[in-house]
Amino acid sequence: MNNFTFYNPTKLIFGKGTISSLATEIPSGKRILITFGGGSVKGNGVYDQVKEALKHHTYFEFWGIEPNPSVETLREAIKLGKEKNCDFVLAVGGGSVVDGSKLVAAGIIYSGDPWEIILKRDYTMSKTLPLAAVITLPATGSEMNRGAVISNKATKEKFAFYSDYPVFSILDPETTYTLPQFQVACGLADTFVHVIEQYLTTPGQSPLMDRWAEGILKTIVEIAPKIKKNQSDYDTMSTFMLSATMALNGFISMGVSQDWATHMIGHELTALHGLTHAHTLTIILPGTMRILKDEKRDKILQYGNRIFGIDESNPDKAIELTIRKTEELFISMGFKIKLSENNIGEETISEISKRFKERNFKLGENRSVDWKVAAEILKSVL
Ligand code: NZQ
Ligand code: ZN
Repeated sequence: MNNFTFYNPTKLIFGKGTISSLATEIPSGKRILITFGGGSVKGNGVYDQVKEALKHHTYFEFWGIEPNPSVETLREAIKLGKEKNCDFVLAVGGGSVVDGSKLVAAGIIYSGDPWEIILKRDYTMSKTLPLAAVITLPATGSEMNRGAVISNKATKEKFAFYSDYPVFSILDPETTYTLPQFQVACGLADTFVHVIEQYLTTPGQSPLMDRWAEGILKTIVEIAPKIKKNQSDYDTMSTFMLSATMALNGFISMGVSQDWATHMIGHELTALHGLTHAHTLTIILPGTMRILKDEKRDKILQYGNRIFGIDESNPDKAIELTIRKTEELFISMGFKIKLSENNIGEETISEISKRFKERNFKLGENRSVDWKVAAEILKSVL
């Protein structure tokens, strides 16, 4: 096991009716900037609950943080926050609203252009306003981590940066009943791949982390078909919501190496083609597994056996079966998992490998995924 420091200060407030706790969780006297997406919160009662809870607070609303939040939109939110002297940011919506709001919370007290914050990558903590979240889409884990992924429309780039943790996050599973089926599939797939990025790496580092990770993977495999049949079952949606948070809040990555190559390649597909984040992962992950099957051999065998019950004595066959099971899982969720099915071809592969070469990217737990290996991964999923 590697050395590690674990720190996660986000207070999690979970369950039915908990949005009302905003009234007491945000100190009175704060000037709150409330940030929203495109309006889904008006259709499911979340907006009304937020307004009711904050009726004695001073707040200002910013609408329109889009999926894959862009720095162009966030500059507008920062402008409003500065004009109104806001000293607290409340994000209400999916991962994009929470991610975008992390930049807003940092940008309101930053004098330069917010894109500079992104380019710093690891933004010094406590240089941001306090941020809290009411999350309505289980997927990113943004409600309990310090990551955010921001797009730049002008340059067609999409980069992650690290800021501060939300002070608290409210997770009411009833808010997820209105999610479109495609977003549910995306949330399940994103959660699954977050776990894989921290699990399908170096073998033997921590049996405890392995079991925690496998617990989430198995849970996703189990609940995916149930949710497809009934998206309004409180307990199943609660399990989904907590799985997404636990997949990317640091609890399963203590002392183990991490990969993230699939995510980094996926971000390029979103930046260049606008493909939804989780969809890109369902395309790339099978390719990462095939191309890196020697490096990841022991872990793929363990994953295949423990998650899909694969009991095949020939390791090469077991690995191929495991990759196929993973593909079938994504297809059963409704994804088209080949680049060509999504009208993406060789030119995109050249562009992504060119970008990786320029940035001198070396990804994966062994830093073996450079621009050449990234191109191989992409070619394998054409
Ligand atoms: O904008 P509104 O109208 O609110 O609609 C949203 C949006 O259109 C809708 N939605 C959200 N909750 C809903 C709902 N519709 C009905 N009922 C509800 N309860 O869903 C659509 C997608 O929302 P979005 O926030 O974009 O989805 P998601 O939560 O999957 O976030 C994706 C973004 O997170 C980043 C991705 O790259 C992408 O930009 N990620 C952030 C991470 C992090 N911070 O740690 C890690 C992830 O790997 C990921 O990269
Ligand atoms: Zn993700």
